[in-house]
Amino acid sequence: MSWTRKHLLDIQSLTADEIVTVLDTARAFRAVGERAIKKVPALRGKTVINLFIEHSTRTRISFELAAQRLTADVINFAAEASSLKKGETLKDTARNLEALNADIIIIRHSASGAPHFLSRFLEASVINAGDGAHEHPTQALLDVFTIREKKGKVEGLKVTILGDILYSRVARSNIWALLKLGAKVTLCGPSTLVPRVFERMGCRVTHDVNEAIRDADIINLLRIQHERQRKTMFPSIGEYTSLFGLNKARMALTKPDVLIMHPGPINRGVEIDSDVADCPRSVILEQVTNGLAVRMAVLFLVNGGKGPHEILA
Ligand code: CP
Repeated sequence: MSWTRKHLLDIQSLTADEIVTVLDTARAFRAVGERAIKKVPALRGKTVINLFIEHSTRTRISFELAAQRLTADVINFAAEASSLKKGETLKDTARNLEALNADIIIIRHSASGAPHFLSRFLEASVINAGDGAHEHPTQALLDVFTIREKKGKVEGLKVTILGDILYSRVARSNIWALLKLGAKVTLCGPSTLVPRVFERMGCRVTHDVNEAIRDADIINLLRIQHERQRKTMFPSIGEYTSLFGLNKARMALTKPDVLIMHPGPINRGVEIDSDVADCPRSVILEQVTNGLAVRMAVLFLVNGGKGPHEILA
């Protein structure tokens, strides 16, 4: 299977074969990252613009470094210092960036659907770096990449996603990717944040944390998305932590080879204790490292790359 898409807008519309093509291409780029000279000329002469209209540490820097490793010219759009503040629309902003010969526009926006909107009128490739509570496709790709590298497979694994599912774009993209690759997905958290409607996607829903983590091969923790919640969805942070936080006592219930994942940023002492975040079973920082290879793969593929066979060994 080779890649033919110009944009990466979501995981929902990808096939399992397309996801595997990204993962295999990322593995080839990870090998490039282990060489003395870590740069390849795959995007030489191309311009990549990071259009981040919401805060980010990992995703923005990872895309910037990925573009540099591919020898692209990369521009970071500073929303706070831009003419968006003078009333310019997102459409006009994007069209002006394209008039400066942008080849790839990576967008993060608080509005669900913003990347899809841009893809309707731009000639440039559009990559979704997180849109509202909808999707965060490269996070899910780096998560399944990490699972596959650590466990040797994704199919048949039991993955528990624990936390604020309702407001999480990471959860939605992970659910699509994991189910397409044959994992069994359990969602857990307060009933207000993990409604049973998610069962329609093919997930198991439980509000009993001990039951959710006991058999899990992977526990992926999510923070409370305060910026997207319109009202308090649970009585207090303290109560959330005591009922759903992953601490040393709860870790004692888990399988000895469970992987602990988190997309970041982590809120220590809320959804995850430091004992857990920094324990040997935590792969949180490996996820960040793998994100670089995954984002190199995505930039390469939307620019016309076909798959891992095109990357020189
Ligand atoms: N995981 C993630 O999207 O982190 P940032 O918000 O720092 O990009």
